Amino acid sequence: MIALIYAHPHPTRSRANRVLLDAVCELPSVTVHSLYDRYPDFDIDVAAERRLLLESQLIVWQHPIMWYSAPALQKLWFDTVLANGWATGDGGTALVGKSCLWVTTTGGPSDTYTPQGAHRFPFSAFTPAIEMTARYCGMHWLPPLVVHGAHEIDKLALHQCAAEYRQRLLNFVAAGEDG
Ligand SMILES: Cc1cc2nc3c(=O)[nH]c(=O)nc-3n(C[C@H](O)[C@H](O)[C@H](O)COP(=O)(O)O)c2cc1C
Repeated sequence: MIALIYAHPHPTRSRANRVLLDAVCELPSVTVHSLYDRYPDFDIDVAAERRLLLESQLIVWQHPIMWYSAPALQKLWFDTVLANGWATGDGGTALVGKSCLWVTTTGGPSDTYTPQGAHRFPFSAFTPAIEMTARYCGMHWLPPLVVHGAHEIDKLALHQCAAEYRQRLLNFVAAGEDG
């Protein structure tokens, strides 16, 4: 029911995303596709990815922010899986009505996403491309879960974010079961 598309270029070296993923990957309704583990040669099995999406009500995109955007393999996944005629364009209605949750981490702490900070713009200035990828496919965009300062956030705060993530997925499943 929940497809979790995980795109970390170095899954074994992750700190923040690992904690987030550990909090949800064992939930019975969650299927994790770790793109960099499955497709180290970037040769995405588009049919398999689509099958998972069709079976799911909620699609989660989880990855670290890289150059204000998604890692390269997540971008290739968008380009190949969400193709015209399947997810967009004429007859492209496969994802209409499904929900999408974006879970991401930034190296920059929140105060670097300010006019005086290193990244100058609020983080919300960088989200429209991902948000519109979901919306353009007819998906319902849920409020994203963003963890800033992934390298320095203290353990307790990171685990609180992970608990919130887990609770949001549990709530989604419970709402579906309630009808
Ligand atoms: C190539 C590359 C580009 C990155 N670009 C950004 C960026 O644009 N903004 C930012 O805040 N952090 C950036 N980072 C930092 C990552 O977002 C950060 O290392 C990651 O969120 C940490 O999560 P992890 O502990 O799961 O690896 C970048 C890191 C790399 C390697």
